[in-house]
Amino acid sequence: MSEYIKIQNLCREYRPSKKVLVAALRNLAFSVKKGEMISLVGSSGSGKSTFLNILGGLDWNYSGDIYIEGKNIRNYDQNYYRRFIVGTIFQQFHLIPSLTVEENILLPTRFQKNISKQKLNERLEYILNKTGLSDRRKHYPNELSGGQAQRVAIARAIIDSPKIILADEPTGNLDSKTGNMIINLLRSLNMQEGMTTIIVTHDSKIASQTDRTVTLVDGKNV
Ligand SMILES: Nc1ncnc2c1ncn2[C@@H]1O[C@H](COP(=O)(O)OP(=O)(O)O)[C@@H](O)[C@H]1O
Ligand SMILES: [Mg+2]
Repeated sequence: MSEYIKIQNLCREYRPSKKVLVAALRNLAFSVKKGEMISLVGSSGSGKSTFLNILGGLDWNYSGDIYIEGKNIRNYDQNYYRRFIVGTIFQQFHLIPSLTVEENILLPTRFQKNISKQKLNERLEYILNKTGLSDRRKHYPNELSGGQAQRVAIARAIIDSPKIILADEPTGNLDSKTGNMIINLLRSLNMQEGMTTIIVTHDSKIASQTDRTVTLVDGKNV
């Protein structure tokens, strides 16, 4: 399908006070193909995070429409959407400090009753292996390097095999070598698990490794 994700007339306004209105997205419109890995670039304040929060199911306060495989995302249960349709990672890794690596990774599945322990353990093993974290499973976040912490965040984002991975400046806190490893990991998940991937980045080297770049200017794609 050439329009796996279809974004139509997407608008988002913030009203930080009565007299101030910020139009963060203005009729954003573009499509993403199934299995594509695209980069989203644009200067600070151009609306990249606003857009990713909406597509990630964290903000439903928008006008316009987003369709995934033809289905309007407003028609999903929000919890289901955030677990099985999209997985998001951020510049700050957002790990829970009091939980171990494997507990962090399993967090999204915590209230899931209808999957066998064995299936879940198999998935966990696979993901620990895939992200190179097998020997860090009992560690706590403060015992990890930045690259390891971001790999835990990626592992947590994919534990439920979402169809789409969203990454908001995932290498922003990492040195370039570690950042490259993270991009390579995202690429291999994209290739091997077929996850459609959108990466927000400031780094033109990273953007050049993706299939296509979408540029935002003042809340519009150009
Ligand atoms: N919660 C908010 N309240 C008010 N304005 C916001 C809020 N979040 C973002 N904005 C504004 O919306 C615009 C887009 O921000 P953002 O999506 O964070 O841009 P980017 O991620 O491209 O740097 C900016 O002008 C920003 O100041
Ligand atoms: Mg941002």
